[in-house]
Amino acid sequence: MLMDTFNDKWRALQQHLVEVESSHLRDLFASDPKRAENLSVSACGLNLDYSKNRITLKTRALLMALADSAQLAAKRDAMFAGAPINNTENRSVLHTALRQQDDKPILVDGVDIVPQIKAVRIKVEAVVNQVRDKQWLGYSGKCITDVLNLGIGGSFLGPKIVTTSLKPYVQGGPKQHFVANIDGNHLHDVLSDLNPETTLVLIASKSFNTQETLTNAESTRQWFYDNNVAFEQLSRHFIAISSNVTKAVAFGISGENVFPMWDWVGGRYSLWSAIGMPIAMAIGNQGFTELLKGAADLDQHFKEAPLEQNLPVLMGMLGVWNHNFFGCQTHALLPYSHYLRGFPAYVQQMDMESNGKSCQLNNEIVSSTTGPVIWGAEGTNGQHAFHQLLHQGTSVVPVDFIQPLVAEHKMNGHQDMLVANCFAQSKTLMQGKTHQQAYDELVGSGMEEALAKVIAKHKEMPGNRPSNTLTFNRLTPYQLGTLIALYEHKVFVQGVIWNLNSFDQWGVELGKILGDDILSRIGQPNNTELSDSSTELLLAQYRYANQP
Ligand code: F6P
Repeated sequence: MLMDTFNDKWRALQQHLVEVESSHLRDLFASDPKRAENLSVSACGLNLDYSKNRITLKTRALLMALADSAQLAAKRDAMFAGAPINNTENRSVLHTALRQQDDKPILVDGVDIVPQIKAVRIKVEAVVNQVRDKQWLGYSGKCITDVLNLGIGGSFLGPKIVTTSLKPYVQGGPKQHFVANIDGNHLHDVLSDLNPETTLVLIASKSFNTQETLTNAESTRQWFYDNNVAFEQLSRHFIAISSNVTKAVAFGISGENVFPMWDWVGGRYSLWSAIGMPIAMAIGNQGFTELLKGAADLDQHFKEAPLEQNLPVLMGMLGVWNHNFFGCQTHALLPYSHYLRGFPAYVQQMDMESNGKSCQLNNEIVSSTTGPVIWGAEGTNGQHAFHQLLHQGTSVVPVDFIQPLVAEHKMNGHQDMLVANCFAQSKTLMQGKTHQQAYDELVGSGMEEALAKVIAKHKEMPGNRPSNTLTFNRLTPYQLGTLIALYEHKVFVQGVIWNLNSFDQWGVELGKILGDDILSRIGQPNNTELSDSSTELLLAQYRYANQP
């Protein structure tokens, strides 16, 4: 019955698509001077202008009806309440609890998790203060000048992009370094600039089982040994954040330096937990608290705002419209902000690891397409690289333009130009240029008519290409918290529509197993059992290149 209603709403959108396809965005804007007013919304300091999507008020109503029929509100409430919505791992999904602003109990298996969260936060704050106040001393009595963060995926991207994004707020703390890759070049290069006496290592791994992180941690421990630091002295230099406390202790980290996290926090949603310690070390505990507050306010908005004014619901449903109905296979995030340059990569993991799936919650293979490819880069650099394809290519790429309105610097003219470029790009995508306009321009500039007709074909731009523009005043810790939570919930909304479990990631497992198998075969040239000729060929090349 519920499924029938959902299918009816889906079909209604398919029928409506035919009406929308016949109109061009530039005509929709020309015929309705209030279009932007009607199709924009603000909350928690974020302004979303979604008027440059191929929609009408009817489309919005139909999309909201689809969301409603998918029981979005009930599913959202179940997540916030701690229901085990990660069904393949039988886990609750409670990254939102990590930023809850009051002590309202949240039960997981009958236990209130709020006191645990608070206890860990107090412990994190104490360590952060010790390090920032130069009270945490290394084995030789010197204070910590550098923090080496080892972790990958969600245990890396969140802390890394937040500290990068909040650079103007980074002061007073030690310098942060991040190494995720197993490629030893990175760790080698970073270690060569560090002094073991003044370096603190944070190992961030929810599972404490990840090859890259553990190998980098072992090599870093060896670097201390190579610098004549004894095992007993390492307790001043290693901290772990993990839900696998036993393994972290077995690695040699003293129990008091292991900060727990929990199964109910997904790796890619974990920056709000002790995994965010590097952020607090960089911007201070107060800044980290503001980041949490921003996310909490967006949570509240997601829970309470009517669907038609709900930022994550609107962005999620517009994404469904562009992806499932217009067939757009990718989605670009273009922050016009140098500090947000890492944001597309962060959302890429959050979105693609969450919704890049085919098997639904009811164990059936999904019949529509799911998770678009998320990509992007900072403006204006992208304009001189890939925007050509955005404007005239055969693939239509919906874009989120992200624009802080107030600059963090005082350099003359830069911010005006940055903002003008951002707004011009969305306008260009929207209106395009007709053949007639291109032709008239060419003839007007003196070109002979026959040639102008030909060249105009190359200069014509289809326009009618969808984009959102997200603006906010300043990229503060609070505002960044709202922005990240907005995308988290957008991903959740789309997972609901596609009926996916957005919180597991089984697709990454097989590669890890085969990686271990191939690793063990590198030193066994005669072992061709169960292998394939391509892998054997590649292994042979590798062995040959590395022969003594
Ligand atoms: O690549 C898969 C993944 O499990 C991510 O989901 C996770 O963020 C990352 O690996 C790191 O995992 P861990 O924190 O357990 O080391």
